[in-house]
Amino acid sequence: MRISETGDRWWKTAVFYNLDVKTYLDWNGDGIGDFEGLANRLDYLADLGVTCLWLAPFYPSPRRDNGYDISDYYGVHPDYGHLGDFVEFVRTAKDRGMRIIVDLVVNHTSQDHPWFQASREDPQGEYGDFYLWRDEKPDDDTENMFPDVEDGVWSQDETSGRYYRHTFYRHQPDLNTDSARVREEIEKVLGFWLQIGADGFRVDAVPYLIESEQGREHDFLRSLRGALTRRHGSAMMLGEVNLPYGEQLEFFGGEDGDELTMQFDFVGNQALWLSMARQDAGPLRAALQSRPPLATGNQWGNFVRNHDELTLDQLSEEERHEVFDAFAPEKAQRIHDRGIVRRAPGMLESDPRRLRLLYSLAYSLPGAPVLYYGEEIGLIENGAIPGRSAVRTPMQWTDGEHGGFAPAGTAEIVAPQPGEGAAPAQINVSEQLRDEHSLLAFHRRLIAAYRSSPEIGWGELTVLETGHDCVLAHRLTLDGADFVAVHNLAAHGRSVELALDGVVEGTEVASLLDPTVQPEVERGGLRLELDGYGALWLRLVAPGSRRLH
Ligand code: NOJ
Ligand code: CA
Repeated sequence: MRISETGDRWWKTAVFYNLDVKTYLDWNGDGIGDFEGLANRLDYLADLGVTCLWLAPFYPSPRRDNGYDISDYYGVHPDYGHLGDFVEFVRTAKDRGMRIIVDLVVNHTSQDHPWFQASREDPQGEYGDFYLWRDEKPDDDTENMFPDVEDGVWSQDETSGRYYRHTFYRHQPDLNTDSARVREEIEKVLGFWLQIGADGFRVDAVPYLIESEQGREHDFLRSLRGALTRRHGSAMMLGEVNLPYGEQLEFFGGEDGDELTMQFDFVGNQALWLSMARQDAGPLRAALQSRPPLATGNQWGNFVRNHDELTLDQLSEEERHEVFDAFAPEKAQRIHDRGIVRRAPGMLESDPRRLRLLYSLAYSLPGAPVLYYGEEIGLIENGAIPGRSAVRTPMQWTDGEHGGFAPAGTAEIVAPQPGEGAAPAQINVSEQLRDEHSLLAFHRRLIAAYRSSPEIGWGELTVLETGHDCVLAHRLTLDGADFVAVHNLAAHGRSVELALDGVVEGTEVASLLDPTVQPEVERGGLRLELDGYGALWLRLVAPGSRRLH
């Protein structure tokens, strides 16, 4: 049996929520979020409907890349607590029915990692080949991932005088993953976190991780997946692979599906934003139709935003500028000429209709949704903070001091919250919990509808013809029931009428997001009217079926 067909494939219909402990809730009043704070918000997350938490790196780190520069794979940064606090958090999360995945960042370490210290000191020693060293600067014009700060991928080490490779910042030397010993160490790291409660990993920078001078080492990814599954039969890996679909398929392990379990759909995400900019469903429709079929156990992670820039590098220059012009008119809102350092409400001028359309679309796409903390309340970036950090500000819980992120009287918090218009006084959890018309209430309904619609995670996709460019209509079929989503991307006021054919007389139609809407089945078709920015989620149940709807 294939590895992709074994075990409990809970991720197929999971609701992922990514947060950084550092910016979630500060319990002890030092201005930095901690595990105790997070543990105190697990009921909030469970009530929201989240089923799997993805924790951003919380390991010891000099934090020169927001914690993606790790100096010890086996610990917790002392600012957030200690391993005991992690285990306590795991226990509480599991008690609320939530799973946990943690970041596996093993393409590189921090230069502070003891492996790098040993490697630079003694080329012949035990750790000598843990990194990629050259005596002379190689003739290599590979572009660094952060071209605004680094002009290449080789830097000279002050201690040894030799050159080492780094795909990202110079303080993040690339591990030599061709070395069997490095691979063994990576497996141990993976085993450790699984053993103390993780259900899987978000794997950082996968294409670079498995790249060697011979090309891509898919064997390595396959053996990592094997190591994972041997230790925990239903553990998974959600990989960061921002490449065209054809190449992504290879990272799933092709039709065997024995490499990454899930991948973020970066292509679909960029198409989603282009569609939003154009108010035209075309790009998203095309992306959906060009998604390669996956092995049963594999899945797409659909997202709107994440902790990095909204990267638009897979769009053409012209398309990218359409999105820039629409959503990031100022230079400071863009980065590396390829992305936007804003959150969705900032880009959509907090238009509630448009925001609801965006999230309704994202949650309805075949796959599993991945939320970034704060999206559920419409948290806005702090445009005064340069670069990616603008979208990494502390969660806003109340309208009080520090937005309830830290106890009153805390002198300074880890990052400044946004000001007027986006401040905690205007956007916070507490207020939205009490308001059934809030964005938070909408997300709760959306998540509940997603969770009661396994067709979205498991069903077979058909993109439907509607005769309107601005409309995306898609159907997902599973066990005789159909989930149908219809979204009108045109502006509010531009309503459309349409008919979806092939619906048998007697079919029962339930509207999942708005029960007041009742579309009619007439002469073999479903007649619908949908306002601009309107969204409909329907369940169609054939006559005689016992599907609850
Ligand atoms: C991808 C992460 O998402 C990003 O935040 C980080 O800077 C790079 N990998 C390097 O680890
Ligand atoms: Ca703290």
